[in-house]
Amino acid sequence: MSTAVESRTIDTLLLEERRYPPPPEFAAEANAKPDIYSRSFEDFWETEGRERVTWFEPFTKLLEWELPYAKWYLGGKLNVCFNCVDRHVAAGNGDKVAYYWEGEPEGDRRELTFADLQREVVRFANALRKLGVRKGTAVAIYMGMVPELAVAMLACTRLGAPHTVVFGGFSAESLAGRMNDMGCELLITQDEGWRAGKPVPLKLNADEALASSPSVKQTIVLRRTGGGVSMQEGRDRWWDEVIDGEPDDAESCPCEPMESEDLLYLLYTSGTTAKPKGIVHTTAGYLVGVAATHHYIFDVKPDSVYWCAADIGWVTGHSYIVYGPLCNGTTGIIYEGVPNYPDPERWWEIVERYRPDILYTAPTAIRSHMKWGAEHAQKHDLSSLRLLGTVGEPINPEAWVWYREHIGGDRTPVVDTWWQTETGMILITPLPGVTTLKPGSATRPFPGVDAAVVDDKGNEVGPGAGGYLVLKRPWPAMLRGIYQDDERYRETYWSRFEDVYFAGDGARVDEDGDFWLLGRVDDVMNVSGHRISTIEVESALVDHPEVAEAAVCGRKDERTGQAIVGYVSLVGGREGSLEKLEELRNHVGKKIGPIAKPANIVFTPELPKTRSGKIMRRLLRDVAENRELGDTTTLADPTVVEEIKQRAATGKAEE
Ligand code: WTA
Repeated sequence: MSTAVESRTIDTLLLEERRYPPPPEFAAEANAKPDIYSRSFEDFWETEGRERVTWFEPFTKLLEWELPYAKWYLGGKLNVCFNCVDRHVAAGNGDKVAYYWEGEPEGDRRELTFADLQREVVRFANALRKLGVRKGTAVAIYMGMVPELAVAMLACTRLGAPHTVVFGGFSAESLAGRMNDMGCELLITQDEGWRAGKPVPLKLNADEALASSPSVKQTIVLRRTGGGVSMQEGRDRWWDEVIDGEPDDAESCPCEPMESEDLLYLLYTSGTTAKPKGIVHTTAGYLVGVAATHHYIFDVKPDSVYWCAADIGWVTGHSYIVYGPLCNGTTGIIYEGVPNYPDPERWWEIVERYRPDILYTAPTAIRSHMKWGAEHAQKHDLSSLRLLGTVGEPINPEAWVWYREHIGGDRTPVVDTWWQTETGMILITPLPGVTTLKPGSATRPFPGVDAAVVDDKGNEVGPGAGGYLVLKRPWPAMLRGIYQDDERYRETYWSRFEDVYFAGDGARVDEDGDFWLLGRVDDVMNVSGHRISTIEVESALVDHPEVAEAAVCGRKDERTGQAIVGYVSLVGGREGSLEKLEELRNHVGKKIGPIAKPANIVFTPELPKTRSGKIMRRLLRDVAENRELGDTTTLADPTVVEEIKQRAATGKAEE
């Protein structure tokens, strides 16, 4: 574990003594009461499975666990779209708002009731069916934060077609890589998206991706900005044209009865190699897991207005904007753009307008708001808020307390929720009516979840000691593997320790049994809550013809958690320049996406290597974070790091 992570957390633990017990009124009305922790594993998940979801055919067996593969709710039949949409309409809640949508350009607003959502999903599913989409057809979705993104996902699940949503900030190459890996046959995209007042060229990127994705035969393109795009005859169709004339009554397109373990979606995420992993999520366990956690952790009530400010392109959006909340029949908010467009008041205007009682966001966003100043929030009525949540990276106590005081009026609980793309659902979290909160701690494993912190040898550590976070029992929404890569699945999660799931995070348990997450312990960086692997960025750099060698590491960043630093030696020992630096940053942006652009690149004739030729990333991290250099005795040429230090100190890039 890196020394930076260690020392930061020791500080946190020593200094953080603030405690926030649940407000009594909140506790009295809370969905989760203290006795929830005394329910047994089997009882908890059996009951949740029956109550949270409507089954076409009930399940007969809770769990089959053949390490490292779990199967949940066997024998059952169900449909995700039916649970998220149809059953709410059938229960008489068709007029309830499913989503308030706020576009980025001012005044661009829509309201979709559950009945509207059903009509849109049915029409679109009918259109997909006409284009040949059936149970099992793999569909890619590359869109911005528009209601049609949720419609597209739900239409796929209605038909039993697994989807992969690719975040709209990813590049053409990233999109193509994912579509090829999954073997997608159809792509749903849009002309352009809006971001910070500028159009994002989604269709243009898609065109480039399609040139190297031979399995994709058809596309559907939503008109969003009206910006001009080229449409290829026979391949590309407009969304409004394909749905034209399609019936929108539920009977015209029945929900496909799916087996519990049928594939629901793949979501690609960074690991410790250059190739993203296709994380496999299946139907029943995932839906039960996200609905149950959403219900208890966010304490949603029938009249709640819930806002998760993540992007649907990440797992947080899948689980807690689309599937969990809709399964629970909750009214949600979807916002298309960035938090500070046209100014830093935007989010707080949204809160004042729709009056959410729950807000869920990432520490990096909170720190941005801190930087912009509390005065923007103060100008607005935020009194509707009853509960706040965070996810994506460890939250520093200062940001936690700021969030509670300035956004939560010093009255709302803040739930710090730990989970991963792989876990599908929140696993370590406070329950807001039960848990005494500690800023910086994600507190307890959720009921029915068995987590521990172990040392190098896999033995559980005592209170206060640091180690690795593991999960000792399967949970319903857990990944069912890495798509078509059994070996990598076993190697990544199940080989580090015997018989337990290795999350890749460092953690510590305190005297009270509360968990403190310490960040990644592998070569994965966490930039603004987004996982990016060092090796992915290194391969993108080395792909540039003038780059001979590259090494990448994360350094601590006040706002984004971590920032990416690249160390590059150019072909022929050439010297770098500011122009070259920009060119390389853009090259990475093109290979992976703008989020992966290094904040800084240090040009150096040599990288620090051991005598066996291994790059010593640890030393580069020390340089990036301005620390005393660790042990350099194993270096082939110890003068190299000194040289790099000099260059790093003089050649800072613009950020
Ligand atoms: C980190 C996002 C500390 C962690 C849902 C994990 C967190 C990775 C927290 C997964 C938290 C997420 N406290 N760290 N509350 N939540 N992380 O797959 O390192 O994008 O392994 O899923 O984010 O990121 P992913």
